[in-house]
Amino acid sequence: MRCYLHAFLLCMVFTFFSLLYVFNQLASTLEDRDEWNLREQSLSDRSSHDAGNLLRKMPGLVGRRDREDGLDRCKSLSVTYWSPYWRLPADVCGVNCLLESTFREKPGSAVKERSDERSHLAVVACGTRLEETVTMLKSAILFSKKPLNFYIFAEDDLHDSFRNALDSWPRTVHTKFNFTIYPITFPRENAKEWKKLFKPCASQRLFLPLILKEVDSLLYVDTDILFLQPVEEIWALLSQFNASHLAAMAPEHEEPRIGWYNRFARHPYYGKTGINSGVMLMNMTRLREKFFKNDMTTVPLRWEEILMPLLQKYKLNITWGDQDLLNIIFHQNPESLYVFPCQWNYRPDHCIYGSNCQQADQEGVFILHGNRGVYHDDKQPAFRAVYEAIQKYPFGENMETSLLQLLEASLLTTTHTYCGRASHLFTKRLKQSIMSVQQRG
Ligand SMILES: *[C@@H]1O[C@H](CO)[C@@H](O)[C@H](O)[C@H]1NC(C)=O
Ligand SMILES: *[C@@H]1O[C@H](CO)[C@@H](O)[C@H](O)[C@H]1NC(C)=O
Ligand SMILES: *[C@@H]1O[C@H](CO)[C@@H](O)[C@H](O)[C@H]1NC(C)=O
Ligand SMILES: *[C@@H]1O[C@H](CO)[C@@H](O)[C@H](O)[C@H]1NC(C)=O
Repeated sequence: MRCYLHAFLLCMVFTFFSLLYVFNQLASTLEDRDEWNLREQSLSDRSSHDAGNLLRKMPGLVGRRDREDGLDRCKSLSVTYWSPYWRLPADVCGVNCLLESTFREKPGSAVKERSDERSHLAVVACGTRLEETVTMLKSAILFSKKPLNFYIFAEDDLHDSFRNALDSWPRTVHTKFNFTIYPITFPRENAKEWKKLFKPCASQRLFLPLILKEVDSLLYVDTDILFLQPVEEIWALLSQFNASHLAAMAPEHEEPRIGWYNRFARHPYYGKTGINSGVMLMNMTRLREKFFKNDMTTVPLRWEEILMPLLQKYKLNITWGDQDLLNIIFHQNPESLYVFPCQWNYRPDHCIYGSNCQQADQEGVFILHGNRGVYHDDKQPAFRAVYEAIQKYPFGENMETSLLQLLEASLLTTTHTYCGRASHLFTKRLKQSIMSVQQRG
């Protein structure tokens, strides 16, 4: 009799654990399905369905990937083994907590994974700058591997032409970017006053943090910029900002003897030679939050409060418009500016009397800035050659033969100028960018 009782008890214990195991399996499949839905949502956000298919074929990877994404419901480990699954709160997982927690990633990597991959690029185009702007956007697309968001501010009569130009690009190119065209505007508050004081087109960039209120960060470039390497490379500098940086620009000059600000300016300017605003990286969230020191009041002012008094004070003394205002602001708030080297904003000034941009000598030109109209006249044929090579390159053709080699040939005809003699710097980085894109395709 006793023997039977023992056997019965043993059976009961065995059944109990079997049931527990079955429930455990059931619950974890449900969990997985849950995670799947979330996973797929985040995938479609990033429009990378390939990765999704890949993962679906290898379900073993799924759990771990999800944890990296921060979809981690094991916040509380203090759950006893005996709590039934159906009574656990949503942010708590069951038995596999311990297992999961050993795989858990540090919080930092979760943040990185979730962050927006896109580079956000803004330009302001007025008058006759349509073709130049379209060529700039083309250079951004040709070498970038990550998707781009374009914010195009243009006079109303240019909107259709912009739309037609971009829509005419091949469909394969369109998967790499989105664009929105905006009219030239002032912030709604005080629009009348702004209009009296500022020329709309020239000063639009100052207002971008106030107009694009929902955008965190932005790369602003002039229309006469050409990217010779992926946009995401300059975008990555945002992550090098320290706690007080909120914008990044290059110096106006490397060589003080030919610098403009240090010789002629009648207003304060940043650093030794001032800064150039043709390539300007902004963390606009920080710009909107910051209180700026200034020489008008003892009270620090917000971005939207500082612009108008500043212009009123200095309007008789400024020459280069909004760039001068930026120089005044960062003169008074130098800790807020991250200065990147000249190869990120390479202008004729850097080679016109011989090469004076050391970093470009070493690493090549990253971003070319053909200011003072050099893409369209004969003063700096080397700059013009780069512009025309990119402008004429037909999408889809081999970039090495139809872009690089043609460009190298036409640069050979410019060696009678100082910039022409430095033109191997123009193609040094470009060559790498092209190789890298072609390897991918
Ligand atoms: C950009 O394109 C993606 C699809 O690739 C879409 O989900 C997103 O809403 C678009 N964004 C804008 C600003 O048009
Ligand atoms: C910009 O600054 C804000 C506030 O400091 C920060 O949360 C955000 O991640 C920054 N953006 C980028 C792209 O670094
Ligand atoms: C403008 O320039 C003049 C002449 O150099 C100078 O005397 C004046 O102080 C400047 N104004 C401001 C607001 O700096
Ligand atoms: C950030 O770097 C700047 C120099 O670019 C420096 O002046 C500033 O003190 C730094 N801020 C912090 C919080 O470290």
